[in-house]
Amino acid sequence: MPIRTDYCGELSLEHVGQTVTVAGWVDTRRVHSEHLAFVDVRDNTGVVQVVVDEKLDVRSEYVVAVTGTVRARPEGMVNEALASGEIEIADTTVEVLNTAEPPPFPLNERTDVDEKIRLKHRYVDLRRDRMQRNMRARAKVNSAIRTAMERQRFVEIETPMLIASTPEGARDFVVPSRLHPGNFYALPQSPQLFKQLSMVGGMDRYYQIARCLRDEDLRADRQFEFMQLDAEASFVTQDDVFEFISEAVASAAEAVTGERPTEFPRMSWYEAQERFGSDKPDVRFGMELNELTHLFAETESNVFKTPVVKGICMPGGADELGRNRIDQLTADAKRWGAKGLAWFRVKEDGLEGALTKFMSDDEMAGVQTELGASPGDMVFLIADTRRTANKVLGLLRLELGRPPVNDGGFNFLWITDFPLFEDVVDGNPIPAHHPFTMPHVDDVHLLDTAEGDEWLDIRSQAYDLVLNGWELGSGSIRIHRSDIQAKIFDILGIGAEEQQVKFGFLLDAFRYGAPPHGGFAFGIDRLTALLVGEENIREVIAFPKTQSGADPLTNAPTPADPAHLDELGLRVLPRQD
Ligand code: AMO
Repeated sequence: MPIRTDYCGELSLEHVGQTVTVAGWVDTRRVHSEHLAFVDVRDNTGVVQVVVDEKLDVRSEYVVAVTGTVRARPEGMVNEALASGEIEIADTTVEVLNTAEPPPFPLNERTDVDEKIRLKHRYVDLRRDRMQRNMRARAKVNSAIRTAMERQRFVEIETPMLIASTPEGARDFVVPSRLHPGNFYALPQSPQLFKQLSMVGGMDRYYQIARCLRDEDLRADRQFEFMQLDAEASFVTQDDVFEFISEAVASAAEAVTGERPTEFPRMSWYEAQERFGSDKPDVRFGMELNELTHLFAETESNVFKTPVVKGICMPGGADELGRNRIDQLTADAKRWGAKGLAWFRVKEDGLEGALTKFMSDDEMAGVQTELGASPGDMVFLIADTRRTANKVLGLLRLELGRPPVNDGGFNFLWITDFPLFEDVVDGNPIPAHHPFTMPHVDDVHLLDTAEGDEWLDIRSQAYDLVLNGWELGSGSIRIHRSDIQAKIFDILGIGAEEQQVKFGFLLDAFRYGAPPHGGFAFGIDRLTALLVGEENIREVIAFPKTQSGADPLTNAPTPADPAHLDELGLRVLPRQD
């Protein structure tokens, strides 16, 4: 006799009269009398009601196998909420396969359970509908991506986990070497260099569902270890990359939601900054940033004598936002780098706010017209550098208008023409992506002449894919010539000797016939979370870490055994703080 013939959630009127065996956990039980009880048995497909007419001692989460006959439920007893709600299993024999202590928290979706407790007992938490749904959605994402990549001639290549450091902008996790005491492997922040080397190796089109590790502060969309769809292809343009990645993402979305997204519009990084104050604009709602600088050309007020004045209008905000909230937003704006936040309520007769006394009638009327503001709306202005005005208004816009994570469907957006450098610190440019990104063809010559903030005007051939305001992935057309790569390293202040030590193998490889190539990687945790409507990627990871990077289930990280440390030639110093 098999332990199981059928799954609980798949039984229906079709099975009436059949003898079946289901196996799973006791979800709920309602005892009617000493000899009649209704037990809901749950497996990964759902629950089925079992009529037990023997004296039976089963409790929540006991593991049981039930054999019986499927029958239609009596009229009036049908449960519309259940897939198997029209039937029940009667004439049963129940075998208790294992007992269980009372679960550490209720397994229904109504109870809000502390995350640490959920993660400490993740094996129980995973039994909940939500986690079952999420983990299965994740598996569908992986499977759809694999099929889509393989359909597009991509070859799966596994790259090593114990490597020399790859600079992706985060800290490495390191692994001490026993055979080479004092030396360390880095765990890959991404397979970036190996995928490029695979292109030199003539693999043509590489993909991998790759585990990446980065020692960075954790957030809702960040874990130490996460999964990427990582891809690289030779002899491709940016358009080719957009096409094969859109195909993979659309296939994954279709696998989970049943609907295939077809729109993958594009916007330049510059336009995204100007209109949304962000390189990952959430385009599901308006409240766009407006240029108002020209209105203040003749301003008498020092507040507005700045390189740039920009503003946003929050529809209905005048009534919605009280004084406390505005004070809080002002504090936020200062924290984000602004000197202050100018705010105005729009009344029937124009703007009202503390700064109106420093503004001319034309300026006030102009602000209202340019922002399309009507009575009842709230207007916010930032006067500052272009960079600060965009950044602060962009964050304010999100704070005031952002809808829940998957409201309004899935809005994909390619952001193109990222700058090559994101900042200049002590005269040295800092790369916006990683240092293997090809500069924009029209801007390459600027590498020889740029000084100071001019570095920030150099565009690259890097691009991102954004979904509902989340950065889903990044990529670029790469440098494939050792002379250009060495020049970029020079500009970044990586001297000839350091280049040789850290990246000599790459520069060497480029001398042996490297094809032009480009690629992309997107976060599978992020994509899955958005597709199932979760705000935190922990909800789509089977065994994640808490915000503080701990695993309450296994207690990792734990102190190392002194003998093990000796073997590795390591000594732990007392903490300095
Ligand atoms: P990047 O560093 O932008 O690019 O990473 C690509 C995508 O990986 C996801 N991601 C993360 N997800 C969860 N937790 C994290 N800590 C985390 N860090 C990144 C994001 C991100 O967009 N080698 C390049 C790609 C390339 O150029 O081809 C890279 O790794 O969704």
